[in-house]
Amino acid sequence: MDSSPIIELRHVSRAYTVGRERIAALRDMSLTINQGEIVAITGPSGSGKSTLLQLIGCLDQPTSGEIIINGKAVQHLSDRALSQVRRATIGFIFQSFYLQPFLKLKDNIAVPAMFSSQEPDDIRNRVTDLLTQVGLSDRVDHFPRELSGGQIQRAAIARALMNQPAILLADEPTGNLDSSNSQAIVDLFKNIREKLGTTIIIVTHNPEIAAQTDRTIVLKDGVII
Ligand SMILES: Nc1ncnc2c1ncn2[C@@H]1O[C@H](COP(=O)(O)OP(=O)(O)OP(=O)(O)O)[C@@H](O)[C@H]1O
Ligand SMILES: [Mg+2]
Repeated sequence: MDSSPIIELRHVSRAYTVGRERIAALRDMSLTINQGEIVAITGPSGSGKSTLLQLIGCLDQPTSGEIIINGKAVQHLSDRALSQVRRATIGFIFQSFYLQPFLKLKDNIAVPAMFSSQEPDDIRNRVTDLLTQVGLSDRVDHFPRELSGGQIQRAAIARALMNQPAILLADEPTGNLDSSNSQAIVDLFKNIREKLGTTIIIVTHNPEIAAQTDRTIVLKDGVII
């Protein structure tokens, strides 16, 4: 497996200003993640885990420092250029943008492909294939409200994989699941990495999940400890 760096942070800080207060969410963070690694990020609430994921995912910009994703410095890119990097490189499994309530499951999964040049037949086949991989082939015509929490989480994983991203970012992907469903998701991640060499970063509070990754990064007060 190729182990060249796919994500590099160099002296990255992200501060928020709220009223007169300045909150240092990440402080002078340097970090390298190699292609095909599965990395867990843990740490107490407010330690900067989601902030870090949003920076890596090009959803946010650092206050200072450099971020290199797939060989490209992204810290000064325009919104338009950032969205191109996101679409081409990154799959998101974030609770804040789970499924569209008014789309059937099969259409939800196809959303990331809407702006790509894939043929409709190829998209349909890929949706079927992904839903089979996550064990939801019998739910293609269901709406999100007709699915369980664990099924929605698995569907979000299928959608994140639609464009075959080099990097998969998951913020608490097993948050509301029991241990057997959580394990199924971890197994699915391992399988994806095996088959596609995907780099996977998982924010989790669950030590059993962290123990199964290649490396655990622990954050506290915006720094790696
Ligand atoms: N948009 C924002 N505006 C102001 N402060 C923010 C914003 N987003 C995050 N913060 C602050 O930055 C710090 C880090 O937040 P972050 O969401 O990264 O934590 P987290 O480790 O993901 O926590 P949790 O485990 O609770 O999800 C917190 O102190 C938080 O209050
Ligand atoms: Mg968070």
